[in-house]
Amino acid sequence: MAESKRKTIISGDRPTGLLHLGHYVGSIKNRVDFQKKYDCYFFIADLHMLTTKPTKDDILKIREHTREMVLDYLACGIDPEHSTIYLQSAIPAVYEMNLIFENLVSLNRLTGLPSIKEMARNAHMDPESVPFGLIGYPVLQAADILMSKADLVPVGRDNEAHVELARDIARRFNMYYGDVFPLPEFMPTKVPTLVGTDGQGKMSKSANNTIFLSDDAKSVEKKVRGMYTDPNRVHADTPGTVEGNPVFDYHDVFNPDIEEVNDLKARYREGTVGDVECKEKLAAAINSFLDPIREKRKVFEQDKGLVEEILYHGTQKMIEVTDETLKEMRAAMGLKGYWNKISRVARDRAKKADV
Ligand code: TRP
Repeated sequence: MAESKRKTIISGDRPTGLLHLGHYVGSIKNRVDFQKKYDCYFFIADLHMLTTKPTKDDILKIREHTREMVLDYLACGIDPEHSTIYLQSAIPAVYEMNLIFENLVSLNRLTGLPSIKEMARNAHMDPESVPFGLIGYPVLQAADILMSKADLVPVGRDNEAHVELARDIARRFNMYYGDVFPLPEFMPTKVPTLVGTDGQGKMSKSANNTIFLSDDAKSVEKKVRGMYTDPNRVHADTPGTVEGNPVFDYHDVFNPDIEEVNDLKARYREGTVGDVECKEKLAAAINSFLDPIREKRKVFEQDKGLVEEILYHGTQKMIEVTDETLKEMRAAMGLKGYWNKISRVARDRAKKADV
């Protein structure tokens, strides 16, 4: 029996800067595991960044952020031997596909997406002056997904509608022009999103409630000391609530010493342990989780040109893959045939003029 082909996975990150524990729990850890089972494409979605941050200064920041993020990927165990890591803006085919796909989706469908409204709101945009590119964000994302002919797209719930849209675009393309694309599937993350250190919402840089993968031990201690806990607990001998308490949520994720965690929880409920001890133990657990990541990061960081080399080779490989897809698309649409014909007729005419 023929061995079945490995499935392909694709996922991208906008280069917003250093990755934090929320990214690790929500996506990076899964990606590291995916490498064993799937062909993986992970990329820096710098063109998507332009939809809300288009200035020259923004672009210079994007560069720095790209480097930081690739270092974080590598430190966490994303391995360029197993995954293709590439830079979106250096792939010529993505611009062309974006244009072709724009014609396969209605404006209403795009403007109705809550994710776009939220991005506009977060970027403090006046709803009347949302750029065309931001409305088209999911179309560009469809180009990312379809150009690799990916089978699976592991993203958060907030991106589910975008994968659905890519699927619809693929379906419509295949219907109009012939079967070119497999229909990509949304792959929900197993782990719930990590709450921020403020306990108010998910961990995110804009909310200033993050612990970065590259934070040093002292910063982790400081951030954990300042973490939100049970607000009703004024003294160490007041019984406290463990459920929904970020300190214990983090213990559950990052502290491998289950006995210690259970003991702390029990004493917290009884009012026989102080917040300080719970937090000190948490900071220690997070620091021992981060130590190997920090060490690897340092090695990669000092290896001059390594990030560039990885991005270069990954991007070159992706250019080949996507040029191939684009060729198939143009052939299916008849664009290629028409151009070939024009070229042939023009060449013949030139030859005749020569004799
Ligand atoms: N929209 C994703 C985000 O929220 C980034 C992204 C762009 C992406 N293109 C993609 C994710 C393709 C998965 C596949 O940041």
